[in-house]
Amino acid sequence: MIDIAVLASGTGTNLAALLDLPEVREHICLVVSDRADAGALDLARRAGIPARVVQFGDFPDRRSFSLAVADAVEQAGAKGVVLAGFMRILSPEFCDRFPGRILNIHPSLLPRFPGARAVEAALEAGVEVTGVTVHFVDEQVDHGPVIRQEEVPVFPDDDADTLHQRIKTVEHRIYPEVVAQFVSGRLRL
Ligand code: GRF
Repeated sequence: MIDIAVLASGTGTNLAALLDLPEVREHICLVVSDRADAGALDLARRAGIPARVVQFGDFPDRRSFSLAVADAVEQAGAKGVVLAGFMRILSPEFCDRFPGRILNIHPSLLPRFPGARAVEAALEAGVEVTGVTVHFVDEQVDHGPVIRQEEVPVFPDDDADTLHQRIKTVEHRIYPEVVAQFVSGRLRL
């Protein structure tokens, strides 16, 4: 079994979906956010899971920020890292500390539309289908071996909010399934 830390910057709806699955919840030993106001921190506290804030601005550069996050993860006893809307790029040194043990979820069919504006970019490109990607993290942003992808249709009257909601419905179904496999040790790079 693999205990995990979940890293989240935002509202934390993916974290909530992970907490809803008991076999995942019991292996989440830490939630880390780079924002003190992240909804994910409240979710963690309510679930009785240690929550830490590591703020980018408190460090001189990306490398030292990333190493502080890695230290927090290791101190909590986590062997794996699950990114759930973590909006900071982590340095290569972070990946080296958890080789093959970092997962990410991204709201597009990678390699299309990497980056923070994936939903808007899909709309601007006029695609009829976008989707969700769960992947192992490597040293590039929104990049690494794909574990699972699922398509999501784009409707003509969609805006970024309606499309992102439809995408998140899929995320909340597939991420807990993949993470459950990961914590059980059945999913390996
Ligand atoms: C999700 O769309 C995820 O794919 C992306 O960031 C968003 C996080 O949303 N990486 P939430 O905070 O889990 O609601």
